[in-house]
Amino acid sequence: MAERPTPEARNKAEPEAHNKAAPEARNKAPADARSFDIVIIGSGAAGLTAALNLAERFTVAVLAKGDVSAGSTAWAQGGIAAVLEPGDTYESHIDDTMVAGAGLNHRATVEFVVENAAHAIDRLADLGVPFNPGESVSERWHLTREGGHSHRRIVHVDDATGWAVQQALQKAAAAHPNITLVPGMVALDLITSAHVEGERFAARAVHGVYAFDTASRQVQRYVAKAVVLATGGASRVYQYSTNPDGSTGDGIAMAWRAGCRVSNMEFNQFHPTCLFHPTVKNFLITEACRGEGGHLKLPPSASEVARGLNSGTRFMAHYDDRLELAPRDVVARAIDAEMKRLGLDHVLLDISHLGADFVTQHFPMIHARLLELGIDCTVEPIPVVPAAHYSCGGVMVDLAGRTDLAGLWAAGEVTQSGLHGANRLASNSILECLVFGQAVADDIAAHWDPAAAPPAIRPWDESRVTDSDEEIVVAHNWDELRRFMWDYVGIVRTDKRLERAAHRVKLLRKEVADYYGNFRVTPDLIELRNLVTVADLIVRSARARKESRGLHYTTDYPRLTAVAQDTVLDPVTTRN
Ligand code: FAD
Ligand code: SIN
Repeated sequence: MAERPTPEARNKAEPEAHNKAAPEARNKAPADARSFDIVIIGSGAAGLTAALNLAERFTVAVLAKGDVSAGSTAWAQGGIAAVLEPGDTYESHIDDTMVAGAGLNHRATVEFVVENAAHAIDRLADLGVPFNPGESVSERWHLTREGGHSHRRIVHVDDATGWAVQQALQKAAAAHPNITLVPGMVALDLITSAHVEGERFAARAVHGVYAFDTASRQVQRYVAKAVVLATGGASRVYQYSTNPDGSTGDGIAMAWRAGCRVSNMEFNQFHPTCLFHPTVKNFLITEACRGEGGHLKLPPSASEVARGLNSGTRFMAHYDDRLELAPRDVVARAIDAEMKRLGLDHVLLDISHLGADFVTQHFPMIHARLLELGIDCTVEPIPVVPAAHYSCGGVMVDLAGRTDLAGLWAAGEVTQSGLHGANRLASNSILECLVFGQAVADDIAAHWDPAAAPPAIRPWDESRVTDSDEEIVVAHNWDELRRFMWDYVGIVRTDKRLERAAHRVKLLRKEVADYYGNFRVTPDLIELRNLVTVADLIVRSARARKESRGLHYTTDYPRLTAVAQDTVLDPVTTRN
């Protein structure tokens, strides 16, 4: 959990260089400023849950950088974990979470989330999420199984749970008179005391956010008494990812620049089974396929095919007694090892033996999408590869979602709350968004000061930048960054690879900072700048961890150290 540093220490963090306003710019009228009680950046499960829990008392703006439903939440397939099966216990869910997390989890956070899971799911059901019903009177909802869970624990809506959750939250938010949904608004930097007229040296606090309006192409000020970061993860820092395009770690980078500590950035989860396809790059094949009995196989060799042996060979027995139900890190590494050993570009996930009725009933969305791509998973195996899926690290928060800075809270994948440790257990993520979305709202309401007035904020200053003349720089650096992160900071790491990555990050940081300092912002530039920051934080954290734990596996330090410790980076003390 985040220990709150003194305001003096936070105050040493340097304000962002780009927006040091010229004196004349400071006197402009605030025509671009919009004021709300609370601004929430992000409209996924975490942001909308916080919004709905605040809106009875406060005015709330929810910013989204694209469509309101364009975050990872809408893409979730498997479901949401909770202790609901007769015979299951909190202790068992806590244990499974901590075993997956390789002991790095904070037990108090795990208990907090697990014990609030059933309530969070009830709230979603009340909002109209049509969870699949159970098959007996003792089971209200159908529960599926996923890797690392020792019980059936996952409530779901077929294999498209996230879409149903997003739609229900979004519908309720859109109907609420106190909630303003603002799509197409790309937050680019938090407004801190450094941006307050005449208060450059006051203790650091957050008063809102500067955001790029994709319609007017102007930067606007959103001013508020409380700001909530709910911007999701950073898995698009890798070349191959299951995530939507927007998972570029914007919230992590903005919080870091404003002076917040981040933690455990080396733990990026690779999902074992992303579809391998020449054109469709980020279609997930849910873990529930393995949970319900799917088999991982090596593609048949040429000689096997010649002998009519087309079904492939299972291989997980060589790696783990739990076979396909081992935690994700184990399965992803096993696939990676087999692909490297045999020079394969993919392996196979076979669910055809489960029967056509079972497959079409349990995985209708996946079945239909694969059919569109010419793969009938009721009769043939699905080609799969691992891909970056989830950021376990992020902005440090306490149990109320408070960050290091007054006025700034955070919830969901953008945070490191202590829940996931060194590896997230499947289907614990949306759960974390729901529980922390509510915790943040409760804390903001409990500490609300009706008398406090937001300060006067300087407008965004563009007096010293011009339109970019070389967009290719942005496109090239995007590709380069994501490729070397995949090659050097991926599933298996070494000191040498990390050193190479650090060298490249340093060059890119300089190039992108120069570019950012000279040209008007665009959404691509905003994301690239954040991705470089996130890559830097991941590489620094990975280099600091001299052991293999959970998702961080390095052949130079294959063992666990005796004491499990978070990797904490502090912008106040980190050297450039
Ligand atoms: P998101 O839902 O990602 O939302 C982020 C929001 O922030 C978006 O609205 C975005 O527009 C906004 N945003 C980002 N940057 C900016 C910016 N600069 N300015 C303005 N707005 C911004 N987890 C589970 O528990 N169960 C599952 O079954 C499951 N399946 C998954 C399947 C897939 C394919 C993927 C990708 C993830 C899955 N996960 C699952 C993980 C889970 O979906 C995410 O961790 C979770 O939904 C994150 O929610 P969030 O609210 O934190 O962020
Ligand atoms: C999946 O359905 O495999 C994803 C579940 C998760 O990421 O929690």
